Amino acid sequence: MSEKKKSYLTGKEIRAIAKENAKIIKRLEAYKNRKAEEAEFLTQMHDDANILEIDDLHTFFFTEQGVVKAVNGVSYSVPKNAVVGVVGESGCGKSVTSMSVMRLIQGPAGQIVDGSIRFKSHEYKRDAKGEPVKDENGNYEMEDKVYDIAKMPISEIHRIRGKQVAMIFQEPMTSLNPVFTIGQQLDEVTFIHTPGATKEMAKAKSEEMLRLVGIIPENVYNAFPHELSGGMRQRVMIAMALAAEPRLIIADEPTTALDVTIQAQILDLLQDIKNKIDGSILLITHDLGVIAEMADFVVVMYAGKVIEQGTVYEIFQNPMHPYTVGLQKSKPTMTLDDGVELYNIPGNVPNPINMPDHCYFKERCAKCTAKCSGEYPGMIQVSPTHYVACHLYNEEDSNNG
Ligand SMILES: Nc1ncnc2c1ncn2[C@@H]1O[C@H](COP(=O)(O)OP(=O)(O)O)[C@@H](O)[C@H]1O
Ligand code: SF4
Ligand SMILES: [Mg+2]
Repeated sequence: MSEKKKSYLTGKEIRAIAKENAKIIKRLEAYKNRKAEEAEFLTQMHDDANILEIDDLHTFFFTEQGVVKAVNGVSYSVPKNAVVGVVGESGCGKSVTSMSVMRLIQGPAGQIVDGSIRFKSHEYKRDAKGEPVKDENGNYEMEDKVYDIAKMPISEIHRIRGKQVAMIFQEPMTSLNPVFTIGQQLDEVTFIHTPGATKEMAKAKSEEMLRLVGIIPENVYNAFPHELSGGMRQRVMIAMALAAEPRLIIADEPTTALDVTIQAQILDLLQDIKNKIDGSILLITHDLGVIAEMADFVVVMYAGKVIEQGTVYEIFQNPMHPYTVGLQKSKPTMTLDDGVELYNIPGNVPNPINMPDHCYFKERCAKCTAKCSGEYPGMIQVSPTHYVACHLYNEEDSNNG
């Protein structure tokens, strides 16, 4: 008798899952909260041209229903002074990847379970007591270090979070403190990150950053967040991110909560900033139009995995994965005739708790062949910068059958 596939869990199964989850969480929480010598989380970049290397990252949520493999073996890099765009439908793991880089995954349910996040930091040199060191001319000395962020105890994250890596969120109101003025919050960034900063230095820096994002400081420095429009608040958030002079800015759907005209202004601003700062931008969006305008490199994610990546030219001129092709077809364009319906990729992302063993896109793919029921496709290199995970391009597969 064939067993019917059931869509619910019994009480016994739920208890078994909870017990297994608790065991794993306990081990990972202890690892996060451990005391560790710096040597334990120092490492080397695999390619010196990069500032960030995410390598086989696994970030899971241990829920009552089972394990949500939100990020399931993701690897991609951000080169120095480049904009890398990460794109994919909602729920494919874009934000969980970037929150992992910031170590903002909410435990105990959410945990980084495996992989590396190598980040090249440029920071104040410190002595054994943690005090910044000056050179003979009285200037603070700087040094480069490579951290594996995934292996850092949570108590060490202050070394990079907000300073070396800054984040611009979708909803700026949630990240600005309503009881302090914009000036106070901006000044604070300088106080935290610059040794020896005075009130005057901090204010001058804050005003410079406001001007950089197109705001007249006099109008905004003494204002409270609720007195500003959404677009202005997003500009302030960008100013705050810039004030720390980070090497990497993560912008997660930075324009999604804004109306269309303001979106365009903020994108122009990011474009402008990209040329002015000595740093890289990781731009996360479900909008391919934004990527086309801003990015140098593109990473396409689907269901917790990277399925294609390449230069912006490669991804737009020669998209290879059927999912990337589908995303491009579903992108609205100015040339679309009235009445032509926008293409939608049929079907849904599979249930993240029960991912199949084969290609996760199979159930939605019009190109699928017999071998697509086999193992999950490996990443195939098609140019020095272009990679795709799809059986259509596996020569070995086609030679053999
Ligand atoms: N706190 C959480 N608990 C359980 N699942 C979560 C949690 N946060 C995110 N997820 C799941 O992780 C997956 C990836 O989410 P996310 O990275 O936010 O997607 P997006 O690509 O839209 O940014 C989704 O399936 C989402 O439901
Ligand atoms: S591996 Fe097969 S099912 Fe998956 S995207 Fe490629 S052709 Fe489609
Ligand atoms: Mg997201």
